[in-house]
Amino acid sequence: MLAMALMTLAPSTVWAQSEHGFKPMTVEQDFADNGFSWFRHALLLAAGNREQSNAMTIGWGSIGTLWRKTAVTVYVAENRYTKQFMDRSPYFTVMAFSDRKDEIMEYMGTKSGRDGDKAKALGLHTAYTEHGAPYYIEADIVVECRTMYAAPFDPQYFKSEVPQQMYTNFSAGLHTMYIGEVVGAWQK
Ligand SMILES: Cc1cc2nc3c(=O)[nH]c(=O)nc-3n(C[C@H](O)[C@H](O)[C@H](O)COP(=O)(O)O)c2cc1C
Repeated sequence: MLAMALMTLAPSTVWAQSEHGFKPMTVEQDFADNGFSWFRHALLLAAGNREQSNAMTIGWGSIGTLWRKTAVTVYVAENRYTKQFMDRSPYFTVMAFSDRKDEIMEYMGTKSGRDGDKAKALGLHTAYTEHGAPYYIEADIVVECRTMYAAPFDPQYFKSEVPQQMYTNFSAGLHTMYIGEVVGAWQK
């Protein structure tokens, strides 16, 4: 029964993504960026569902392997509005942009979704993966993840002065680490 339901769902979903110019990719083979610098270029992190979602700029994160899964890790500070969506949603997406990148990253990284719909203000169009995870059709790369593990940093485990110094004058609160299994990826 479930298999039949999935068979009916999958083609329309793939079509929905293809019609926005996205092609599915296998990240292990097709991902062309440098994993060490990908996050430094600023990306968008989105979570939520069809009723409500939010996105913000992220500059911290990593891609790699964990528990025999291809994984993406992101870090969200306590006071980010996006955190509520990350905690409630089983899936999140990470997106890279080329068109209007600076404008989008600046706005998404300095305004809060608490004060208004940032995607709407930027004229971005929200679409959803087959799992219901939000993404913007204006992105160039979309990586969809299912959260496997989430935990806030605990200062008792800081092992060098780096995290200690980071949080000395950081008003947004400690970051929570979200480790996601990559369950889908698309690029234009
Ligand atoms: C370039 C850049 C990178 C950022 N990286 C992160 C990050 O990795 N983690 C984080 O919690 N906040 C990060 N931020 C800050 C959030 O994007 C920012 O606080 C945003 O307004 C939060 O939006 P929200 O309240 O709608 O979630 C970054 C901001 C910029 C401009």
